[in-house]
Amino acid sequence: MRLTKLLTLRRGKSLYLPAHGRGKALPMEIKELLGKKPGVWDLPELPDIGAPTLPIGAIAESQDKAALSIGAKKGWYGVNGATGLLQASLFSIAKPNESVLMPRNVHRSIIQACILGDIRPVLFDLPFLEDRGHYSVPDESLLKNVIEKIEKDNIKISAAVLTNPTYQGYSSNLKPLINLFHKKDWPVLVDEAHGAYFSASQHESLPQSALKVGADLVVHSLHKSSSGLVQTAVLWMQGDLVDPLLVERSIQLFQTTSPSALLLASCETAINQWFVPGEQKKLDKIINNANNIAFNLRKAGVPILFNQDPLRLVLHTASIGICGLKADSWFIDKGIIPELPEQGTITFCLGFSKQKGLISSMKKSWKELLSSKLEKNSFPPFTRPPFPLVTYLERSCMSAYRAESEILPLKECVGRISSELISPYPPGIPFLLPGEIIDQRRVEWIRQQSILWPNQIPSKIKVVS
Ligand SMILES: Cc1ncc(COP(=O)(O)O)c(C=O)c1O
Repeated sequence: MRLTKLLTLRRGKSLYLPAHGRGKALPMEIKELLGKKPGVWDLPELPDIGAPTLPIGAIAESQDKAALSIGAKKGWYGVNGATGLLQASLFSIAKPNESVLMPRNVHRSIIQACILGDIRPVLFDLPFLEDRGHYSVPDESLLKNVIEKIEKDNIKISAAVLTNPTYQGYSSNLKPLINLFHKKDWPVLVDEAHGAYFSASQHESLPQSALKVGADLVVHSLHKSSSGLVQTAVLWMQGDLVDPLLVERSIQLFQTTSPSALLLASCETAINQWFVPGEQKKLDKIINNANNIAFNLRKAGVPILFNQDPLRLVLHTASIGICGLKADSWFIDKGIIPELPEQGTITFCLGFSKQKGLISSMKKSWKELLSSKLEKNSFPPFTRPPFPLVTYLERSCMSAYRAESEILPLKECVGRISSELISPYPPGIPFLLPGEIIDQRRVEWIRQQSILWPNQIPSKIKVVS
């Protein structure tokens, strides 16, 4: 089918991203704009419009106003997703050969920036939830151990990255973590791709946004956790640890020279929306409604896991031995379209549109799933990934990625250095980085993962020659 036709297909109940729910929750201004003469809004950078890194023009004004509303020192809109702005952020806090501390569940965009900028990731392990196969979030005592280990190993760190909340809506209490890093004078970048709306709401059931607890750079994906069009994102800066000129230079490295004015307008409206009088109440209602959905489903015996983001509903399919990837196809056949199928769970994204009738349709589906003919396996538990508390790469990501390489069957890779990034998507969390040494335990674990993630993990791996 032609792409133009595909775009307008009905796709069942939308419990996937973007969070505007196929247009239903787009801000009114954007709906009106898209309803005008087709294409009038399709403009690139023009003198009156400007661009995210130009000091004058409507976009500069809009960004300044948005930063003021949200309480940041500066903000830059982005049209290449959180990906582009995370990459620019990393470039502005680390130089080639410098080491940056980051969690094992870091999004692959950050590792790609390490490859491009010859920056050295130092990865810390995370608690692992064996009943569902998810990483959990770090706490202060874990990070104290990590810092102690790094100091013992005499490694100099230049900056730190945190991913919070996770795709499945788990969130740390960020303040003590950021304080720990600041005591070391490390600027902190928080990938808050999934938590943009935390920064705009006072609702008591939401975690605090990284912006409110002192992160230096915070990236929001506006299509994942606000009401922006796909590819919209924003980077916020505060404090004095990061140089705004360096941020702008870095954004220019990753940004198209023709940023879409439509997407930039969508950034503006997605951020401003929550500051319009009356909209906070609407947001509260959306959050209360989402809490109510989870509460009622749990009450009815549907295994909805506890997390901190009310808009992410995580169904624990492994609790009855069903693989989330198989249940995903089953749900799609029933006209309910999930966002993130994983081995032990399915994450549904409620987004910002009204979710009418969801409690009854989910209860009904769960009953049907219980009596379905889907294969019931013997998990949980899921195998914990075989990572040490802190992983240092054997060789820099860039040099391993660009090195002379050969492709070997997985079992022959023991003792070799990976030349590639292996990371199933979604969620885009790397299993193996270029520059990492592959030991026997990793081979075993990747082999197991390739059964659980069919077609996403190659049976042969590119290693440095
Ligand atoms: C934690 C996290 N950060 C960043 C990104 C990248 O976001 P985008 O798709 O907007 O580039 C993703 C995408 O899945 C993500 O899960």
